[in-house]
Amino acid sequence: MSCSVYVFDAYGTLFDVHAAVRRHAAAVGPDAARVSEIWRQKQLEYSWVRSLMGRYLDFWTLTEQALDFALAAVPSADRGMRETLLDAYRRLDVYPEVPKVLAALKATGVRLAILSNGSPKMLAGAAASAKIDDILDEIISVDEVRTFKTAPAVYDLVATRFRVFPEAVSFQSSNRWDVAGATVAGFRTVWLNRTGQPDEYADLPPAAVLPNLEGLLGLG
Ligand code: LAC
Repeated sequence: MSCSVYVFDAYGTLFDVHAAVRRHAAAVGPDAARVSEIWRQKQLEYSWVRSLMGRYLDFWTLTEQALDFALAAVPSADRGMRETLLDAYRRLDVYPEVPKVLAALKATGVRLAILSNGSPKMLAGAAASAKIDDILDEIISVDEVRTFKTAPAVYDLVATRFRVFPEAVSFQSSNRWDVAGATVAGFRTVWLNRTGQPDEYADLPPAAVLPNLEGLLGLG
């Protein structure tokens, strides 16, 4: 069965989460890359822990809390960069191939969406700033169900919104744990292994592994 709906994870898949710190690396300090890694890791950890506790806070709040931790954990980091970094996170770069791949997919007649942990406001702002908002049919936020990936209720939002069976959905993520969650949901899953990571979740494999989104055009 060919897929009629292509759904993309946002952060790390379309938007480069390390672009915010990279833009201001010199001002953040010599350990800027470490600040960025901790920021991302804590943001994700908070999403999983809050889902398990049933204590939802929106992803922007978690992003702020994670940055506060990262800036406190790295002694060389300039804490005065907090607002600048948060502002940069609102307008992250997209990976270079994203606009042309989305346009080429759209031209084949499929529908396009984001399914993300991001709050509706974060996602709308990021998509508009990257100029991909017009090409997307839907931007779906976990906020509707007040929990985070990999809760099955999150992935269920896609089939409900598009009125399709999960098999008609091709789901793309650079996060291997998100691919595992989407595989449980019954989607065709594509893992974008942008940074050459080892495989995980062997019992929940993706249908395809690609180094970036360009290979998607050949999958059908
Ligand atoms: C998202 C997280 C996983 O966009 O980055 O849902």
